[in-house]
Amino acid sequence: MNLEGKKIALAVTGSIAAYKAADICSALTKSGAEVRVLMTPEAKAFIAPLTLQTLSRNPVAQDMWALPEKWQPEHIEIATWADLFLVAPATANIIACFAVGLAPDIVSATYLATRAPALIAPAMNCNMLEHPATQANLEILRSRGNKIVEPANGRLACGTEGKGCLASVETIVETVKNILV
Ligand SMILES: Cc1cc2nc3c(=O)[nH]c(=O)nc-3n(C[C@H](O)[C@H](O)[C@H](O)COP(=O)(O)O)c2cc1C
Repeated sequence: MNLEGKKIALAVTGSIAAYKAADICSALTKSGAEVRVLMTPEAKAFIAPLTLQTLSRNPVAQDMWALPEKWQPEHIEIATWADLFLVAPATANIIACFAVGLAPDIVSATYLATRAPALIAPAMNCNMLEHPATQANLEILRSRGNKIVEPANGRLACGTEGKGCLASVETIVETVKNILV
C-alpha cells in the first residue's frame, strides 16, 4: 500500500499489449494510488474504456473535444493533477509524437502539458523497436529525463520472438514506486 495518496495518470495507447493496462491499473489502485486513465482513440480498439473506468474508479479521458465538467480543458487539468505520467503500453507512434512534440490526442497533449515525471513503457514488434527512428526517439526522451521501462524479450503477438514485449506489471509498478516513494 505504499502508493497511498499518489496521483498517477495512466496513459494507454494502441498496442496489442493494451489489455495489460487493466492489470497495471488494478495493481496501482491496490497499492493505494489514485489513478486516472487517458486513452488514445486507437487504444480503444484494444481495451474498452469501461474496463479501465471501473478498475480506476475514475472517468476515462479519451476525447480532447468532449465538453469538460469544469471549465478547464481535461488534458491541462490531468497534467496539473498528476504526480506521475505513466504510459503503458507506449506505441512507436506515441513515442514519436512525444519526441517531436506533436499533440493530436489527449495523451500527447497531456504529455506536453505536465511537469510530472514521465515513465514510458514501450511495447511493439521487435523491428519497430529496433528501427533507428524509434531508437532515436527513445534517446530524445531519455535525454529529457523521461524514464523508459525496457521492454522484455519473448514471443511477440505478431508471431516473432524478440525484444518488444511490455515489461511485466511487477516491473512497471516497482519502477513507479522507485520514482514516487
Ligand atoms: C493488431 C495490431 C496490433 C498493434 N500493436 C502495436 C504495438 O504493440 N505497438 C505499436 O507501437 N503499434 C502497434 N500497432 C500499430 C498502432 O496501433 C498504430 O501505430 C496506431 O496509430 C497507434 O496509435 P496511438 O499511438 O495514437 O495509440 C498495432 C496495430 C494493430 C492493427
